[in-house]
Amino acid sequence: MALVPFDDRDGLIWLDGVMVPWRDAKLHVLSHGLHYASGVFEGERAYAGNIFKLRAHTERLIASGRILGFEIPYTAGEIDAACIEVVKANGFTDAYVRPIAWRGAEQLSVSAQQTKIHLAIATWAWPNLFGDNRMKGVRLDIASWKRPHPETAPTASKAAGLYMIGTLSKHAAEANGFDDAFMLDWRGQLAEATGANAFFVIDGDLHTPVPDCFLDGITRRTVLSIARRHQMKVVERVMLPDDLPKATEVFLAGTAAEVTPVRQIGPHSYTPGHITETLLHDYEGLVRKSPAEVEALAPI
Ligand SMILES: Cc1ncc(COP(=O)(O)O)c(C=O)c1O
Repeated sequence: MALVPFDDRDGLIWLDGVMVPWRDAKLHVLSHGLHYASGVFEGERAYAGNIFKLRAHTERLIASGRILGFEIPYTAGEIDAACIEVVKANGFTDAYVRPIAWRGAEQLSVSAQQTKIHLAIATWAWPNLFGDNRMKGVRLDIASWKRPHPETAPTASKAAGLYMIGTLSKHAAEANGFDDAFMLDWRGQLAEATGANAFFVIDGDLHTPVPDCFLDGITRRTVLSIARRHQMKVVERVMLPDDLPKATEVFLAGTAAEVTPVRQIGPHSYTPGHITETLLHDYEGLVRKSPAEVEALAPI
């Protein structure tokens, strides 16, 4: 199926406070964000008309900007309202939502003190990151690129620049016939996929790496909370490649990926089982609840 280009679609995009026709949502080629990756973004999903964990995403967007040294010129309430408005304006109830903030074109040098901060929010239909492959279980190649040390890159920020490593890794994996890449970190420890966190079932317990140099995803935290509600034993720990053959079930968790079963990482094979199915089912139920109901299920 041919991809409809992202700059040639019908619809509306919220750009710096104004709802503009999709094709007119442009920026200048000398924008600092384009040249020096001074941008941060979010990936959100609306289900049944509500954006799941909207405030948590907005707060992470603001925090990501602060880590890169800039302040997004809107309050969390204004950003939330704009996200809701853009989903409605495009007539969606279920959609992916992409807010992005970046430094403008007022100054083009490594120093960017004079730049203004822009914010755009777009939304489109995107059923799942892995499409039809999701429920079959995805196959992951082990990436040769590594997640960097937190003193090498702003790893706590959902910063556009960090996705350079993701695209390189994903392209290499796709060239080898895989769906995605599984990434190790700079120490050789298990980290995550290129756009989702990873979980491993070992001896019936749920294990996941400590997110100290990659995103502690909102979906990851939601899945941990669901697992604890089921009285599952949850182990957040340093995980090593030696753990890969010990796992029986593996799955990914992220806003775009949702809960996606994994059937292969490098030479290791897995069969999605009861734990993956339970968490996938409960996650799908939770995201369709009203914001008040989601709020009432306090994280544990
Ligand atoms: C690199 C990376 N890790 C993890 C995640 C999962 O984060 P979340 O569950 O907040 O979407 C994402 C997706 O946003 C991501 O891009």
